[in-house]
Formats: sequence, C-alpha cells, structure tokens
Amino acid sequence: MKLNQKQTQALDRLEDRSTNEVVYGGAAGGGKSILGTYWLTKCSLKYPNSRWLMGRAKLKTLKETTLQSFYKVAQMQGIRAGTHYKVNSSNANSIEFFNGSIILLKDLFYYPSDPNFDELGSLEITGAFIDEVSQITEKAWNIVRSRIRHNVDKFGLAPKMLGTTNPAKNFVYPKFYKPFREGILPPDLAFIQAFVTDNPDIDRYYIENLRKLDQISRARLLDGNWEYDDDPSVMMKYEKIIDLFTNTHVKANGGKRHMTIDVARLGKNDTTIRIWDGLVCIYHKSIAKCRIDELATLVRKLQADYGVPNSQTIADEDGVGGGLVDTLRCKGFVNGSRPVEVHGKHYNYRNLRAQCYFKLADVVNNNEMYLPDEPIENRERITQELEQIKQKDIGKDGAITIIGKEQIKQVLGRSPDEADNLMMRMWFELKPAQTINLSRIANAIG
Ligand SMILES: Nc1ncnc2c1ncn2[C@@H]1O[C@H](COP(=O)(O)OP(=O)(O)OP(=O)(O)O)[C@@H](O)[C@H]1O
Ligand SMILES: [Mg+2]
Repeated sequence: MKLNQKQTQALDRLEDRSTNEVVYGGAAGGGKSILGTYWLTKCSLKYPNSRWLMGRAKLKTLKETTLQSFYKVAQMQGIRAGTHYKVNSSNANSIEFFNGSIILLKDLFYYPSDPNFDELGSLEITGAFIDEVSQITEKAWNIVRSRIRHNVDKFGLAPKMLGTTNPAKNFVYPKFYKPFREGILPPDLAFIQAFVTDNPDIDRYYIENLRKLDQISRARLLDGNWEYDDDPSVMMKYEKIIDLFTNTHVKANGGKRHMTIDVARLGKNDTTIRIWDGLVCIYHKSIAKCRIDELATLVRKLQADYGVPNSQTIADEDGVGGGLVDTLRCKGFVNGSRPVEVHGKHYNYRNLRAQCYFKLADVVNNNEMYLPDEPIENRERITQELEQIKQKDIGKDGAITIIGKEQIKQVLGRSPDEADNLMMRMWFELKPAQTINLSRIANAIG
C-alpha cells in the first residue's frame, strides 16, 4: 500500500518531533480514514506495548466506518486477523496486537450526563486519532490530548494527535483552518487540506455522487469550501461571531456598567448573568436554578461589588424573571413588547426582541463587542446560538422580524440563553439613559 501525496505530507508531520496536533481533510474522500488507521496501525506495530485511541463521536459509527478502513489497511498491508491482531468488540472495544499494543475504540460524543468526559478520566495513551472531529467538542479534543502520556518519552516520541474533518464551523475553524489560511498557524499545529482529487485511489462513482449534491454540500464536500454558509437569512457572520472572543481592540472604558440577567424558567436549566463595562463583558456566571430571593440577594451583591445601579440592570421579565424584576425594581425586558423609539424615530420591527437582535447583529458584524476569558463550552454555545438567529420573511412587506424561539429550540435542542443575554445588552444601546442638560436648564431659568 502506498500513501498519496497529501497523506504522506500528513504522515511526515505525524512523525516529526515538533508537531503535536495534526488536522487532515477539509473535503470528502481525501483519504482521511485510511490515513488515520494507517498511522495507528504503523505505530502499534512499531512500538510494542503502546496504547492508542481511535475515536469518533459515536462508537456505532466508528465501527461501521473507521473500523472498516482499519480492515482495509490491514488487508493491504498483509496484517492478518487472528495472527497479528484481534478485534474485541464486546465490552472492551479494542484492537489488540500480537506485540502487546492496543488501539482503544472510544465514543467521544458530548453526553450531558458526563459533561467532563469522566469516562476518559483514568485513560493513558501514547497517541490518538479522531475521525470526523466536526462531530465532537473542543473539550473532548482537549481531554483526549491531555491523556497522551503512556510511554511517549520511552519511545522517543512527541505527543501526537490526529483529527480528520470535512469543512465545519466548529473549533477546528478558528484553531486550525483560519490561522492556516492566514499563514499564522503555530509550528506545533498542522493543517493539511486534501480534496477528493488528491486521492488517486478513489472510486469514480464517489466523485460523481459528490457532483450531484446540492450546491452548499457540493461546495463543502467536493470543493472544500469552509465559508459555505450562504443562507441569506443568517444575521451574524460566522467569522464575526468567533471574533467576539478575540476582539482585544474593544476596551473596557471604565465608564458606565450594565448587568444583563436571563432568568432560568421552566424547562430551562441555567440563569446567566453578565456584567459589562462598555461592550466588554467583565463578569459572567451561569447558575443552576435557584429561588428568586436567593438570586436577588446575589444580584444585589454583584451590583454593590461592581457598581451597577438598578437603572443599568436588566432582566427578562417573561415568566419567573418577572419576580426578580419586582424584587429588585430593575429594568424588565419583555420580548414581545413594542420596539423602542431611537432618537425620536419609530422603527418597523415586529417587537423589542427583533429590534435588539438586529442591533446585536450590527455590533457583532462591526466587531464592537468583546467577550474575554470565555470558557470553551460557552464559546461553542454562543457561536451555535448566534448562528441560529435568522431573519424571517425576507423580502415580504410588513414588520421586520426574526425566527421564533420555538424554531431555534428545535434546531439547538435548548433555548438560546447565552444569545438572549447578549441581545438584552442592546436595550441600553438603543435607549441610552437620558442625560440631563444642566446648562440648558440654567439658560432656561435665566
Ligand atoms: N493510500 C491509499 N491506498 C489505497 N486506497 C486508498 C488510500 N487512501 C484512500 N484510499 C481509498 O480511497 C477511498 C476513500 O478513502 P477514505 O475512506 O480514507 O476517505 P475519507 O476522506 O475518509 O472519505 P469520507 O469523507 O467519505 O469519510 C477508500 O475507498 C479508500 O480505500
Ligand atoms: Mg472517512
């Protein structure tokens, strides 16, 4: 068996001493699964008693696809089941080699019941290959990376991890693809883009089928286009959304502070609180459901600690949030209420929610907001949620509006709590506190 040119390039990075993380692919059929299983097989045979991880979001899919690529590689290399390796697919799920090496097959899907991947807790491995990383979270990737220590030094290796993917808007885009495209990828990371046309071993029908796909899928899978999202109803550009976490040019100006609170209600887990200095978020907390009086006590303490008055604090007033607004006497946000007048002008938005989301889209697309130190899970949630905020009925007459919460919930499987919190911050942008013009009053008095 011979690797194609792109696969060889990737293998070079997998075998050098300086690269730690390699992402290969960015299109369909470039030989991703073959590369990954080839690398693990080679390592397992070369280093006796080594331990490797072969992962994918779902173990079932791993067995149906990636494991099949392993069988192909084994066959092409003359490595025989029973003699050189055996696959244990009962409870252990592993490939065991005659020299004591083992490849563990792992399910890396994010299950809410195991958010910290405790299942991987005690694992020690020599290296890892994850197929289709677009289906896992950055946290899963990082946890697997942190487990690479079994005999790595002893074999004279550098810790290595390989991920393969089709173009996707998950953590691979900002971490690998974007810096690669801009020529600023750090030397310990590698990205190798391989198209189906880089794979001379591909079936003719495979390419023909790719050509028959719809326009967006074809752009993504055949042409390896990462900017495929051409849905005209999307309001915030993906690139601009991920800029939110790196917009260091947006400074906290030490001026007015605001607090935004999205209160947990039935069927929803967390209350999110943010404190803002200008459009820089300087404090963020998610808390599991708690009593309204407890929440009010916490908010009062934060107001005192951070110097945020009630008139600059806003909470969603729909549902139980109303109780908090009553207790605190802060501003209440009602999604379905009338849009506010801006500079004395009335705008044709369906409601306040739509108006504030359009304002947020401006702020995001113009890089005017900064969310520093946001944990990985939050970054992913915010990105997913903001991407789902879409304009509705474009081109139709009538009030400007966005798609409803129910529709967003269906796509996300949860309500867009993080996005709503950012959206509420816009209320203060649209309705800046009335400044009293003392000199005008003085003149009037004479
Ligand atoms: N070095 C190689 N030698 C022989 N055949 C290869 C080689 N690399 C890839 N192939 C063949 O090319 C086809 C596609 O390879 P592979 O399944 O690895 O691609 P992929 O990028 O994982 O595709 P998909 O996007 O469909 O998951 C398979 O039939 C595979 O056997
Ligand atoms: Mg594959």
